[in-house]
Amino acid sequence: MDVEEAIRTRHSVKVFAADPVDSTLIAHCLDLAVWAPNHHLTEPWTFTVIQGTSLVQFSDVVYHILSVSRLGSDKALKEKRKLLSAPVLIAVYAHIDITSPKTTQENYASTAVAIQNILLVAHNLGLGAIWRTADTLDTLAVRSFLHVPDPSQPVGLIYLGYSAQRNLPRRRTPAEAKTEWLS
Ligand SMILES: Cc1cc2nc3c(=O)[nH]c(=O)nc-3n(C[C@H](O)[C@H](O)[C@H](O)COP(=O)(O)O)c2cc1C
Repeated sequence: MDVEEAIRTRHSVKVFAADPVDSTLIAHCLDLAVWAPNHHLTEPWTFTVIQGTSLVQFSDVVYHILSVSRLGSDKALKEKRKLLSAPVLIAVYAHIDITSPKTTQENYASTAVAIQNILLVAHNLGLGAIWRTADTLDTLAVRSFLHVPDPSQPVGLIYLGYSAQRNLPRRRTPAEAKTEWLS
């Protein structure tokens, strides 16, 4: 699959088969993630691959956080089930430069690009993925469980596995409608 085809045919996957994902495929996605452009080569990203027993423990940590919050146990259980719906999660954080809001912003942008690399490579490998946000990624309990370095901010939680869904058509406004050509 060439890059253009990968970009055009990638889609978010929300329903996964239980089949495990070979570690070499996950590592391959991450190897290509780090080729994202990043200003001053700050290489601001960290990735935590969560699977197997760790995934169950992670879902328990999140369940506990949410069940004692105002959201309550129903929402907590729903989130726990969602986390367990994919065989692999990858938590992605970007380094915060406490001396420079600009660098922090650039770091966040580069890390977002790294995530897109992961989504595209996963798609090319026949895997399904979705980039999700999760408020709990920035809690002390989750950061500590994932050994996330400080200071950093969460950019996304990638769900990864083999797709078990029928794909719906994707919709985008043509770029033309969002573009001003100055000459
Ligand atoms: C920064 C970011 C956060 C996202 N967070 C969520 C999320 O929390 N839950 C979710 O279901 N999808 C989430 N998505 C996936 C989008 O909903 C999805 O990309 C969008 O519907 C377009 O579908 P496509 O990826 O198939 O083109 C997120 C995507 C991005 C880029």
